[in-house]
Amino acid sequence: MVTYKVAFIPGDGIGPEVTEQGVRVLERASELDSFEIEWLRYDIGSERYLRTGELVTEEEFSELGRYRGIYFGAIGDPRVKPGVLEHGILLAIRWHFDQYVNLRPVRLFEGVRGALAGKGPLDVNFVCIRENTEDMYSGVGAIRNTPGTDSFEARRRNHTLMVTLDTRLVGDTEFAYELGYMTRKGAERIIRYAFEYAKNHSLGRVATADKANAMRFIYGLWRDTFDRVSREYPGIASEKYYIDALTMWMVLAPERFRVIVLPNLFGDIVTDLGAAIQGGLGIAPSANINPEGTSMFEPVHGSAPEYKGKNMADPLAAVLSGAMLLDHLGRAHTASRIERAVEKVLREGRVRTFDLGGSSGTREMGDAVIRALGESA
Ligand code: NAD
Ligand code: IPM
Ligand code: MN
Repeated sequence: MVTYKVAFIPGDGIGPEVTEQGVRVLERASELDSFEIEWLRYDIGSERYLRTGELVTEEEFSELGRYRGIYFGAIGDPRVKPGVLEHGILLAIRWHFDQYVNLRPVRLFEGVRGALAGKGPLDVNFVCIRENTEDMYSGVGAIRNTPGTDSFEARRRNHTLMVTLDTRLVGDTEFAYELGYMTRKGAERIIRYAFEYAKNHSLGRVATADKANAMRFIYGLWRDTFDRVSREYPGIASEKYYIDALTMWMVLAPERFRVIVLPNLFGDIVTDLGAAIQGGLGIAPSANINPEGTSMFEPVHGSAPEYKGKNMADPLAAVLSGAMLLDHLGRAHTASRIERAVEKVLREGRVRTFDLGGSSGTREMGDAVIRALGESA
């Protein structure tokens, strides 16, 4: 029997609870399709950080590099200053393995009430493809209250941006700055990925959004790259928006969209909006992909600490992220088996967690998907 080794990082808050259900569902689905998954668990997260100060160790990075897939819950803990775990764990993994594609499908399932009145499953069905390594997520910046010289490196798999800045603010005492940047290659590879995705899935059109009217350099380069790449795909329609207008159209007319390719920060923001119009963060999955390396699969949502340990969190985002993992490992049939099971549970509506208007628990939702798996064979 084929065995797939998968690294498993449950993480913080509701991460462990929702991925526990994801693992149960994937185990059952693999049993039905006669293969095995071996889960290699890592206790990366806030508990260990608070105990030992470790985020991701060198040894863990090299071990994680041996897997094609990492299954990830969430990180984030109110006891830790914002940014420490997010940068030190989540972004560090995305950057280390150059997971430059953040694939975030936005799909309203039958039986789910999205945030938009009058919009149904046929209207809300597109995929956001977010650049995942550059833009405002450079890590380059500081809070300063005296003049000085700052040196930084934004180190990525394929490049290092080195910045030395002479900073002084005349007329005030304290200021903060943070630099974004975009490489031509970085913009090009993700935009090309989006056009290829549209081509391979017969989706017909690709939209993008930026803020080239106010931030001329980063998004000027992005826009120019989008124009160049789109010319190579004459059969695929392309549309450019400014990000403020895109948020409006996502709410007023989501049916316009099939594929939206986005710079990192705007991609982060609009995918929570996307989650809201598809029925909530509880059911929005995502994949951080390096097509040639180690990829990571996780819900769009975070650790939602207020729901930790309450058996309330919706595990479907984690379950659907698990399906994306199997698809990536070449198990498309099993992935769609899981999706069909989730569709069935949502359509029937008997088991619903609080975010879907019900009172079922995290575990009951996992049970319902497992039951539906057997039925939808
Ligand atoms: P969040 O996504 O954790 O939660 C926001 C809200 O969404 C919750 O209050 C809840 O109402 C809803 N929600 C989220 N997941 C749900 C689920 N499975 N079922 C039902 N409802 C759900 O965002 P936040 O509160 O802004 O951030 C909390 C922590 O998570 C922070 O530390 C943040 O940095 C971190 N974070 C981590 C990731 C990640 O690990 N990928 C992503 C986003 C945020
Ligand atoms: C996400 C999260 C992360 C991001 C945070 C936790 C750094 O919001 O995965 O959407 O901004 O990418
Ligand atoms: Mn986010």
